[in-house]
Amino acid sequence: MYLEDREIMRITAEGWELFRLDGATISHALEELAEELVWSDKGSFRHHMLKEIHEQPESLRRCLSGRVVPEEGGARLGGFDLTTRDIANISRVGILGCGTSFHAGLVGAAAMEQLARLPAFAEIASEFRYRNPVIDPEALFLAVSQSGETADTLGAVREVQVKGGRVMGVVNVVGSTIARACGRGVYVHSGPEIAVASTKAFTSQVAALLVASLMFGRTRLMAADESRRFGNELLGVPELVARYLADPGPIGKAVEMVAGGKYVFFFGRGVSHAVAMEGALKLKEVAYIPCMSYPAAEMKHGPIALIDANTPVVAIIPDDVMRDKTLSNVQEVKARGARIILIHSEGDDASAALADVSIPVPRTRSSLISPLLTVLPLQLIAYEAGLALGRDIDRPRNLAKSVTVE
Ligand code: M6R
Repeated sequence: MYLEDREIMRITAEGWELFRLDGATISHALEELAEELVWSDKGSFRHHMLKEIHEQPESLRRCLSGRVVPEEGGARLGGFDLTTRDIANISRVGILGCGTSFHAGLVGAAAMEQLARLPAFAEIASEFRYRNPVIDPEALFLAVSQSGETADTLGAVREVQVKGGRVMGVVNVVGSTIARACGRGVYVHSGPEIAVASTKAFTSQVAALLVASLMFGRTRLMAADESRRFGNELLGVPELVARYLADPGPIGKAVEMVAGGKYVFFFGRGVSHAVAMEGALKLKEVAYIPCMSYPAAEMKHGPIALIDANTPVVAIIPDDVMRDKTLSNVQEVKARGARIILIHSEGDDASAALADVSIPVPRTRSSLISPLLTVLPLQLIAYEAGLALGRDIDRPRNLAKSVTVE
């Protein structure tokens, strides 16, 4: 039974009583949740965060299952409840979220533009809600949230609704406030995420947004064979994630480098910049190491002044259209003494040769899919660095799992 603001339930051995703050007794319908709410234990893992990192092959499988249908050449997300005509008429897509969910939204916005050729943007919900945004009634807004309880994201949802806009949820927790406020949307099905640092929710949010982009793309302009190729590649990702996690490369060496630095730079371009932001956020919150993230080409516009001998730089460079340009940005910081941890596609020896620590991840054909792989070493680096520095991994200081205040 969902309680609204200013309602109180008293539960005793005899039963329950629901009333409003003004004292009036009320009642709401009981709803049975389709998904089981389970308390997740750590199993054989030392921390929830590590367990959740290793759950990603399974959480991704759950997120994709039944939604990507290559034999039909597309994807379906019933929760969106949009007809093909509705999809054809979407004017633009705005993706709202905070922290990790915002980073997933950045990948989603790129996918909406590239796959569906829909103008798209991602915005931090706390900024969006207070800038008196112009809401186009033909636009579709997506509110991304693991917990479904983040006050800023809920505020952004209300702002869209007050102005007559359409907003749907991309949420993990079933029946959460944002899921209910939106009424329609998709659950990402990553399962309970206990560690404050979000890991498996990020990959499931990205996967769900890729599926949505594929569905919109196929409806609007993608040819069947192109969408089938993308769908098949997406369905293969859980296997690639499992393969990477079974042999994650020299994480220990990367940890030695970042744990000894005053601060750490993360950079990438395109969707890899979103991954760089996510990697920096993880290392800040779990290991308390100051980190900065930049689109690689921005370094020369100021931040490069901070690079000196031994500054750790984590560069995310999958083998995509931005690879060569980002490698030249790596050379620029290397020439100033930076030590490079390079996340690159398997088999890219030329990139590996530039690195002090080279971490290959399975290659993807579409660069939009690469964040599902390139983020994994960053999650492990943050976890291992937090461990090495004796941090409270699952419950970092000053943080809460759901940020229900402004
Ligand atoms: O529950 P939400 O996805 O709405 O939470 C948003 C952020 O508070 C959350 O992603 C936060 O940044 C995480 N601690 C990051 O690991």
